[in-house]
Amino acid sequence: MKILVLGPGAREHAIVRALLAEQAGHEIVCAPGNAGISAEGVETPRLDANDPTAVANFVVDRAFDLVVIGPEAPLVAGVADPLRERGIPVFGPSKAAAQLEGSKAFAKRIMAEAGVPTGRASRVASVQDAAPVLDEFGAPYVVKADGLAAGKGVLVTSDRDAALAHVATWAPHGEVLIEEFLDGQEVSLFFFADGHNVAPLSPAQDYKRIFDGDEGPNTGGMGAYSPLPWVADDFVAQITETVALPTVRQLEHEGTPFIGLLYCGLIVTAQGVRVIEFNARFGDPETQVVLPRMVSPLSEYLLAAASGTLSSHPAPEFSNEATVVVVVASEGYPGDASTGRPLTGLDDSGQLAEPVTGAHLVHAATARDAEGGWVATGGRVLGVVGRGASFAEAREHAYAGVNRIALAGGQHRTDIALRVVDA
Ligand code: AMP
Ligand code: GLY
Repeated sequence: MKILVLGPGAREHAIVRALLAEQAGHEIVCAPGNAGISAEGVETPRLDANDPTAVANFVVDRAFDLVVIGPEAPLVAGVADPLRERGIPVFGPSKAAAQLEGSKAFAKRIMAEAGVPTGRASRVASVQDAAPVLDEFGAPYVVKADGLAAGKGVLVTSDRDAALAHVATWAPHGEVLIEEFLDGQEVSLFFFADGHNVAPLSPAQDYKRIFDGDEGPNTGGMGAYSPLPWVADDFVAQITETVALPTVRQLEHEGTPFIGLLYCGLIVTAQGVRVIEFNARFGDPETQVVLPRMVSPLSEYLLAAASGTLSSHPAPEFSNEATVVVVVASEGYPGDASTGRPLTGLDDSGQLAEPVTGAHLVHAATARDAEGGWVATGGRVLGVVGRGASFAEAREHAYAGVNRIALAGGQHRTDIALRVVDA
């Protein structure tokens, strides 16, 4: 198959690696991709992945069989729409269906219509509106900006003044949601969706805070592991029936079918599982630990979802291997990250110069300098993925890899998957 993957980061690198691992002779292009993807020998043309017309022209010109949209920005920009109008199989929802991620208010409405369990929430437009709602819900306070905010729109705090200040920051940009605090472990569970049917992937857990022990501000995600040894045996089946299918059917019913990756962000509370958010694309960094465990060929499921034929495929299979990803970030992240610093320990293929068995790298924000050396170009720089027969082994591989990389001021968490190390 001729496959175009759109997006610049480690999620797209993980998707590309999974497609290459099929060894099916696919022709894979990743636009714009990054230096790590390019170092795998994959073409990474300059293309504005957020420009629907530019993407459509490129896809028609090059006659791709399948387009896979990685990040949320092109989805919300409507990049899928002109492709679908031309009959090109595209894995990624329309602009209208991507509102499931793009607007938290939209997502809450769909969940209410579909009877999907989620936290109570109230919309406010100003600090004056917010104060009584915060007092009604009580601490800890959860304040969420509507719309895409690159992971920075959500504040969970027990400090009432900080909660009000967050409302003041985001209210001018649109509505703000105040939500009931949900207490419990978080789960990211992905589904392939073809507009009518869904097929589950294997669950993962993401580490959102910057520091060990879940301290400090939220980030895009500092690490993840998969599978989750602590969920109930029927967890995936239960979420399929109570969350994913009702949501996809509601969107279908409203004439905005969801075709692509439905990311269910869940919290397992003492009262049952609740949805905290939906995303309309693969999670980053969870994808980096879920896809290496996928035994069934990824491309088949992407194409089946894109062409409305998921029901003719068996549920995708996953290995029992444990996988752990540790993200290496630049100094200053998730605030203003220092970029342009040398990154050492990598060879020309973008992998560890001194390899660790059971570990590989996925690049998020790297580039080559004039001498061919590697430099960090963004907040989250790369992920080190460790695989093993146990979480202890997978962690050992991932952290051995981290220790072979040097980035001045670089940050990483040391406790990724520590809570399952005895599983
Ligand atoms: P979101 O962008 O909605 O995923 O929120 C970012 C993070 O904030 C989540 O991963 C949770 O850790 C936390 N969070 C969001 N909503 C809630 C909630 N209602 N209760 C507790 N924590 C939450
Ligand atoms: N890791 C969280 C996300 O992809 O939104």
